[in-house]
Amino acid sequence: MNARPPLTDLQQGQLRQAVKLLTAGELVAFPTETVYGLGADATNAQAVRKIFLAKGRPSNNPLIVHIGSIAHARRYAAHWPDAAQQLAERFWPGPLTLVLGKNPVIVDEATAGGTTVGLRCPDHPLTLKLLEMFDRPLAGPSANRSNHISPTTAEHVRSDLAESVRLVLDGGPCTVGIESTVLSLAGLVPKILRPGEISQARLQECIGAAVEYSPLIVAATENQPLEGPGMLPKHYAPTTPAYRFSFPEDTPLLVRWLKRSGPQHAAMLASFSCPAEIRTLLGDHHQWHTMSADAKEYARALYDMLRKMDQLALAAIWIEWPRVAGWEAIGDRLLRATRPPRQAFDDGGGASGD
Ligand code: TXA
Ligand code: MG
Repeated sequence: MNARPPLTDLQQGQLRQAVKLLTAGELVAFPTETVYGLGADATNAQAVRKIFLAKGRPSNNPLIVHIGSIAHARRYAAHWPDAAQQLAERFWPGPLTLVLGKNPVIVDEATAGGTTVGLRCPDHPLTLKLLEMFDRPLAGPSANRSNHISPTTAEHVRSDLAESVRLVLDGGPCTVGIESTVLSLAGLVPKILRPGEISQARLQECIGAAVEYSPLIVAATENQPLEGPGMLPKHYAPTTPAYRFSFPEDTPLLVRWLKRSGPQHAAMLASFSCPAEIRTLLGDHHQWHTMSADAKEYARALYDMLRKMDQLALAAIWIEWPRVAGWEAIGDRLLRATRPPRQAFDDGGGASGD
């Protein structure tokens, strides 16, 4: 970690309040470098149940447990293989979650009844201090309503969960912007359950062994812990119907939809600037957003942009779906947030809600 400014008196006061609330079994939202988390004491079943209630999250989806150091992580894992040590030394604090056999002190509610736990040491000074002061494992999924877009500012958290969370620690906008890479070390071969900023190649290079990653989406079986978030075909979605398109092959479809439904009813999000053909069509109703062509910058801005577009009450959001090397994690999130472009026509111009 780089040297950071010392915490202000206000932040220190908020941290003391956060520890008090967590110790009393209440929820506290906290910043991380990826997205904001909704925290509860992972050793307190009743507290953890409040997370599921607040989010409207199915109880078969396990939570990530945050810890402040490698030494703490080892307390909560039933085993600590060499690969875990190598990865934690290299990438923690950082956007990597390691799934390992769990210690029974982590309540079953946190792991959806499963025998493994996802451990992550987040790279944010406020939360690292909180974890040090609290000195217990902090269960924390993303602090959004279930299936909505993950929050990357304290304001996003308040707009989703104002009633159910007692305190939102404001640590500013998240610097990574998409959720951590989830890597299972619980099986014979290390396996990516959710892609993130830390890529398959970097993980393999770190441990000197193959890491599996299959971007396939498989429907979840009811009443069983999900193997990972990648099992859900729909996730992280805006409320406005969103459609993915590839450039340039799907451009004619987008043009057709804009002509049919009216350009004022859509927003477009792409990493290339608006082609002349579409610019003419759009006229004054300009909702074409050119995003960064740099994957890191794009990821940092994505969820805030989706939330902003969602507030415009449009009939559709059209999002370019980049499928190039280095964009796997973003492609994964966009795949979950959108439907195929042809669907826009079956959906009656995209006017229906979701
Ligand atoms: O970046 C992040 O990971 C953020 C911040 C707050 O740390 N957290 C986050 O949590 O995205 P959540 O719950 O929204 O997504 C975690 C995913 C879950 O969908 C779950 O399926 C998977 O990680 N997961 C957690 N524990 C697991 C376990 N024991 N086995 C398999 N998958 C697990
Ligand atoms: Mg989430």
